[in-house]
Amino acid sequence: MYPLNRNRRLRQNAAIRDLVRENHLTADDFILPLFVVAGENVKEEIASMPNYYRYSLDALEKEVKDVWELGIKSVLLFVKVEQSEKDNTGEAATDDNGLMQKAIKVVKKATPKMLVMTDVALDPFSSLGHDGIIENGKVLNDESVVALAKMALSHAKAGADFVAPSDMMDGRILAMRTLLEDEGFFNTGIMSYSAKYASAFYGPFRDALDSAPVDVKDVPKNKKSYQMDPANRKEAITESLTDIDEGADIIMVKPGLCYLDIVRDLANTVDVPVAVYQVSGEYAMLKAAAEKGWLDYDAVLLEQLMAIKRAGASMIATYFAKDAVRLLKK
Ligand code: PBG
Repeated sequence: MYPLNRNRRLRQNAAIRDLVRENHLTADDFILPLFVVAGENVKEEIASMPNYYRYSLDALEKEVKDVWELGIKSVLLFVKVEQSEKDNTGEAATDDNGLMQKAIKVVKKATPKMLVMTDVALDPFSSLGHDGIIENGKVLNDESVVALAKMALSHAKAGADFVAPSDMMDGRILAMRTLLEDEGFFNTGIMSYSAKYASAFYGPFRDALDSAPVDVKDVPKNKKSYQMDPANRKEAITESLTDIDEGADIIMVKPGLCYLDIVRDLANTVDVPVAVYQVSGEYAMLKAAAEKGWLDYDAVLLEQLMAIKRAGASMIATYFAKDAVRLLKK
């Protein structure tokens, strides 16, 4: 009771604030998403993601060396493939000599200790822009799961440490885990996008990979039949517990900031690490506001990342990772 208790005593200078701080951000917290394209000497900026790039394999090699030097030890790889390589079944995704498989090898060779995580979903390879196979206007579940498991296996064969299924089909974790075990990849981890919402915050990412659902008759216009309804909270627990049972090592909530209640629910409920994906739209919003001079970029990005950590995230996939690490070093 005041004046016996004065809460400001613990805030009066930096030394005491540092001493009582409950959460900390370090380079260890971050997973850096990286976009890969074919070609040579390509580093092209993504229009809706200022200062974020797609890299060809040679440029990727240089980038991951810099990233490692900076102190970031995990990357999450995505590829943008040519239209000609896309079809409804995402066949090219399982090509052992495909762009993703090559990218995994490039990163492992350039930075052997870098933890390499890979996105597993059909959308970058789907001519229709969906995470699974389409038939009669529907996204097929079980057929898609078979394709996704093969995709995960081919990433593991190429040397991925963790596969990160972002598709939200039912049963995909079990299918992947079973196939990986059968093929001897006991140590390949699965970071499951277990609570992935059908969010409008993925817009810039779909620009980056040219992977949005196509506007054609008999193709669903959105991903609401597989990604979660933003209105639902308990369902995130069901989804995540299911994935853990099926063999996921790490679960994930995506997007980040708008879903911190879900992060806390899961952190309180599960015993495996909870990852958060702070997505492309979150990056774009802050970049845009900062460009206009309306928000302090450095301060707001660190505040956002701290909020995600405080909500219960064990790790954060974020496009701010490099800037965050630079700021934390200051
Ligand atoms: C692909 C995938 C998406 C993202 C990660 N993996 C897009 C989507 O589901 O449409 C979004 C990432 C971001 O917005 O930063 N399944």
